[in-house]
Amino acid sequence: MNLSKDTLYCRSQLGFGVYQLKECYEQVYTALLSGIRLIDSAISYRNERECERAIQDFCTNHPYVKRDEITLVTKIPDSLQGFDRTWKAVFQSLRRVDRPSLDMVLIHSPKWPERRTESWRALVKLKEEGFIQEIGVSNYNIHHLEEIAASKLPLPAVNQIELSTFNSRQEIQKYCSAHGIALMAFSPLTTGQRLDDNRLLDLAAKYKRTPSQILLRYCLERNISPIFKSEKLDHIVENANCKDFQMNSKDLAWMATWDEGFISKPSWNPIILP
Ligand SMILES: NC(=O)c1ccc[n+]([C@@H]2O[C@H](COP(=O)([O-])OP(=O)(O)OC[C@H]3O[C@@H](n4cnc5c(N)ncnc54)[C@H](OP(=O)(O)O)[C@@H]3O)[C@@H](O)[C@H]2O)c1
Repeated sequence: MNLSKDTLYCRSQLGFGVYQLKECYEQVYTALLSGIRLIDSAISYRNERECERAIQDFCTNHPYVKRDEITLVTKIPDSLQGFDRTWKAVFQSLRRVDRPSLDMVLIHSPKWPERRTESWRALVKLKEEGFIQEIGVSNYNIHHLEEIAASKLPLPAVNQIELSTFNSRQEIQKYCSAHGIALMAFSPLTTGQRLDDNRLLDLAAKYKRTPSQILLRYCLERNISPIFKSEKLDHIVENANCKDFQMNSKDLAWMATWDEGFISKPSWNPIILP
């Protein structure tokens, strides 16, 4: 596995997420068939095994796609933070996917100040020992990232946060860009809550695209990987078709003014934690 995997496979890459899709085989397979190569799972989603099964079957049926062109992300939940628990959790995930190494592991949230650095230390060592190809964090704000920098441990390759044109996280974007941390945007479709925004509908009509495709394109144009979810196979194909058009800089600048700090699920907003 070469070290530019994050650049090649994660930056500006469209991702498919499987939160609350317990039976996700068909959806993951369809995402792969549609050209998506980044699949976002987590230990707490309880579907790592099913994701890997869909990936393996896809690679068997399409031998021109190599397994290492696909990135399966998993995440260490809050309940498994701390060095030893994180270490064990990674080996349990390895057993579930039945592979010698995991593609990418993130700390799911910065919930526990006293344990998150130890979890990070475990991931750094697991990567050094070849059990994980790439490591990162999720829901980390600037002060959480600065804590890692202060610990003298390597910075994460990736930070996955809620981000969309309705919450563009300018400060975190600047910090991550300055420190070489790739951004992944979860809930880039606002969990469906802003798909009927009139300005978005206008842009969709202008570019002859759908509102979802415009929202995903916004992230890709900003060098951010949007991670969307859909149960519906036709939506997955539709969303995957956001890659073959471009938006002009004036419209992108306009979209950046729509920032209202939108949070799709206020009960899950760990980025504000100390
Ligand atoms: N790290 C974290 O803490 C965290 C937190 C939340 C999510 N995530 C990741 O991000 C992924 C996506 O986030 P999300 O599910 O919260 O939000 P999302 O992708 O913004 O929205 C999903 C919603 O959009 C709808 N949708 C998708 N495509 C559509 C289309 N073309 N037209 C109309 N509606 C469409 C889906 O409905 P249908 O099923 O009907 O298409 C679903 O209701 C998750 O699966 C997970 O992998 C990570």
